[in-house]
Amino acid sequence: MSVDLHESAVPPPDGSRGPGAGPSRRTVIATGVAVGGAVVAGGAIALAPEEAVAVGAAPSTEVSLTVNGIRRNVTVDNRTSLLDLLREHLGLTGSKKGCNAGACGACTVLVDGRRVNSCLTLAVRLEGAEVTTVEGLADGDELHPLQQAFIDQDAFQCGYCTPGQIVSGVGCIQEGHTGSPEEIREWMSGNICRCGCYVKIVRAVEQTAARK
Ligand code: FES
Ligand code: FES
Repeated sequence: MSVDLHESAVPPPDGSRGPGAGPSRRTVIATGVAVGGAVVAGGAIALAPEEAVAVGAAPSTEVSLTVNGIRRNVTVDNRTSLLDLLREHLGLTGSKKGCNAGACGACTVLVDGRRVNSCLTLAVRLEGAEVTTVEGLADGDELHPLQQAFIDQDAFQCGYCTPGQIVSGVGCIQEGHTGSPEEIREWMSGNICRCGCYVKIVRAVEQTAARK
């Protein structure tokens, strides 16, 4: 929020805006100090010492989980999402951060075999969990059948949503929600593709499900 220090924010009763009308510059600064802490040169806000300590000492927790078959022991800030743990701490950048709010599905991973939006999942809640990301689907150089099907069906354009689509498709097939294109669409509806590749994505899921 910016405050114009050269004019009064509250006009005087007579409506004038001349010099001396309303609270002075000194009054505005004093009010800012009283309400929001210290106003310092350049507009930065300085935290009170006890606030600074609280920010610097965010609680953290050690978590042990398995990611793509590898045991990981990590100490994370309790506020860390699974998506940030994967991308920022473990270097697994296949899962994408689209909305970071549970609305696009670009961050979809499997936790104990279930599809989750990793941007909405706190890492500290995953003690002992098994996480599978798009990096964990292939078998060495051999692509997962759904990865191959995405290539066969040309089911992507920019590719940003694709890791989430593929992981979600794997979950969809494991859950058995592949009885018809309509059913696949319904159970993949949490994964948005801004390039509009939906028809081909559904075909890729169908092709893979038919192999089982
Ligand atoms: Fe997680 Fe969009 S980034 S749902
Ligand atoms: Fe571009 Fe889906 S391929 S968002």
